Amino acid sequence: MQIAMLQDKIVPIEDLEPVYFDRGIYFGDGVYEVARSYDGKIFALKEHLQRFANSLAAIGITGVDIDEVRSRVHKAFEAAGILNANIYFHITRGSALRKHTWDASLEPIFFLTVTESGDNADDKAKGIAVSTHPDWRWRRCDIKSLNLLANVLARQDAAQKGCAEAILVDEAGLITEGSHSTFFAIFGQKLQTTPLTANILPSITRKSVIEAARNIGLTVAEQSLTLRQASHADELFIAGTTQDIVAVVRFDGQVIGDGKPGKYTMSLTQEFLKFTV
Ligand code: PDD
Repeated sequence: MQIAMLQDKIVPIEDLEPVYFDRGIYFGDGVYEVARSYDGKIFALKEHLQRFANSLAAIGITGVDIDEVRSRVHKAFEAAGILNANIYFHITRGSALRKHTWDASLEPIFFLTVTESGDNADDKAKGIAVSTHPDWRWRRCDIKSLNLLANVLARQDAAQKGCAEAILVDEAGLITEGSHSTFFAIFGQKLQTTPLTANILPSITRKSVIEAARNIGLTVAEQSLTLRQASHADELFIAGTTQDIVAVVRFDGQVIGDGKPGKYTMSLTQEFLKFTV
């Protein structure tokens, strides 16, 4: 008899819910998105859905109707009635007894949550401390895959050091991005961030931050930063969907600027928020 064990209970395999065989659990075999709403309006959903479609295509999950995903997002968002929400959704390749290869007949599994987006006003007002961590991730970080173990370990390491984000550093000593955010530096009137390669996620917020930077007269250099450069920046910040823009005031213990959110970080935040209205 083929069996499974759930905690201490033996269950015949055929009695298990399909969710226990989700390839997302065994292999992280799926892709996800996180969008958010500001005062009842979902920000950049079109871009999130486009990236979702790209991620699905990159790992060969086919047959997903993106228009259907869009309408599920709207339906769930309206049902939740949360004005400032994080909308998380993923699709895994399907459910099957564990084996590495998959059959074309598998049906993708959709899952979504709508939750309150946390209040990070305090972090934004005071700025955060970050610590660095080796980037242990795979070489296709442009795919928003469910495989987040390297991100999770780095983020937990930062938390244990009293830091609010882990900044990932590749083998050449260059900063890639944060564990769940994009990393930016400001030198004079220049905004600098990692170029879009397979090493980082093509962040939706990053795109808007770059647009906001140009709007306020900053030049933009898409160029990787060394640790030394970052620690000598005039201003540092991270950006991502769930937190938009948050100043970094300590980098591996070193105080950045005067230890408070910098003037360009603050005006970029104002400019960015205009896009969310
Ligand atoms: N993370 N880089 C990484 C590794 C990320 O996980 C994220 C977002 C970003 C910012 O991307 P965007 O601006 O499109 O949100 C950059 C999401 C929010 C998460 O995993 O919770």
